[in-house]
Amino acid sequence: MTRPDYAEKIPNNVGLAEDRRLQRALESWQPDFLSWWETMGPSLPAQDVYLRTAIDVRGEGWAQFGHVPMRDYRWGIFLADRDADRRIAFGQHKGEAAWQKVPGEYRAELQRLIVIQGDTEPASVEQQRNLGATAPSLYDLRNLFQVNVEEGRHLWAMVYLLHAYFGREGREEAEELLHRNSGSQDSPRILGAFNEETPDWLSFFMFTYFTDRDGKYQLGTLKESAFDPLSRTCEFMLKEEAHHMMVGTTGVDRVVERTAQVMIENDTDEVAALGVIPLPVIQKYLNFHYSVSLDLFGGETSTNVANYYTAGLKGRWLEERRRDDHLLRDDAIMVDALTDGQIGQTEVAALVGLNTDLRREYIADCSGGVKRWNRILADAGLPQRLYLPHQAFNRKVGAFAGIEASPAGEKLPADEWAARKGQWLPTDTDKTFVRSLMQPVYERGKIAAWVAPPRNGINGQPFDYDYVHL
Ligand SMILES: [Fe+2]
Ligand SMILES: [Fe+2]
Repeated sequence: MTRPDYAEKIPNNVGLAEDRRLQRALESWQPDFLSWWETMGPSLPAQDVYLRTAIDVRGEGWAQFGHVPMRDYRWGIFLADRDADRRIAFGQHKGEAAWQKVPGEYRAELQRLIVIQGDTEPASVEQQRNLGATAPSLYDLRNLFQVNVEEGRHLWAMVYLLHAYFGREGREEAEELLHRNSGSQDSPRILGAFNEETPDWLSFFMFTYFTDRDGKYQLGTLKESAFDPLSRTCEFMLKEEAHHMMVGTTGVDRVVERTAQVMIENDTDEVAALGVIPLPVIQKYLNFHYSVSLDLFGGETSTNVANYYTAGLKGRWLEERRRDDHLLRDDAIMVDALTDGQIGQTEVAALVGLNTDLRREYIADCSGGVKRWNRILADAGLPQRLYLPHQAFNRKVGAFAGIEASPAGEKLPADEWAARKGQWLPTDTDKTFVRSLMQPVYERGKIAAWVAPPRNGINGQPFDYDYVHL
């Protein structure tokens, strides 16, 4: 089964109609999801939005585009095709057939991994719910809503696994995923970065670049899972994630491009009064989103993650392309550490250092973004450059959580940090300024003055297409 069936109440390619119990359970969760969407989803009312909907899980033509009212969006359950011969690629079960059911001894851990992933999906919708009110163009508004409906679908993806494979406990966890809320005092989302606000579009672009990219790497490790339904779910989610990455990458591109333009035209760095975001403010937003996203990878060492790996629950990024034994029993890795109170590194067993391995893949990927933004600056003839701050900067998780460090990686006493952090992280003044630029532009083909238009529209449509009817 590969093609989703849209005749059903819950579109799916998992043969839901053949499992009445599961179908009923999911159909009774569906109204709760919809009322969550109504109260916590996008707050800007729109008639319809030019959205893509999955119609297949394979190949180029997997999605279909058309104007749909968001509340009628068909959130469904789509798994990548099953490879009947799939073997486990790593850990102590390496070479055995992938699991189609949850082994009893790994039930609690698998459920936990799915809940943590599932919790981030609706969290980002909640974080972004008011951004529609200040969209710089209809094109951007459409992209926001596309990301939102797909994060909603990713929640469905995880809820399907919880309902289908984890019994009553799974159903209870599925309910909880709708009850925790981003930033809530009583029941916040599980991970820190998902309780931060996304109050403006610069934050949104930074979030989709840095924080959604963390999601890409987490999904990449779960795609390697020995638990085949989880692997297949994540494989398809990664297909959708590519668009979210594009929104972040090109979003920051366009902010940098516009700022550079105004700097050149007016021959000044002082561009705030000219209605664009100064490079130092862009750098501060980058510093913030990058550092809170590094925290999402957890501590440098983790015995839990070592156990997940050995058990086959969660692999490495591109596990099958790694040239080693995929067991890692005798290997070592250098990880960040405080050594004699100083920022340094220490050697640990590769298995316990897997968070570091994943974070490094992520950092390498992030530096690609900085390179392209710097190319925009260079092409404009500007000497300024953006950079990724040091790993010790502004960390709340891991080896450097207990210290303060500058973006250059020098350790600072607490009073110096307090005195200087406003140079490196957005201050209230910066945030108020950025927010002051966020005036909505809902006219076809028009765009706010602080951001350049995109090079390409969506699905071959021009920039001035009527992406959203308000
Ligand atoms: Fe997602
Ligand atoms: Fe995403």
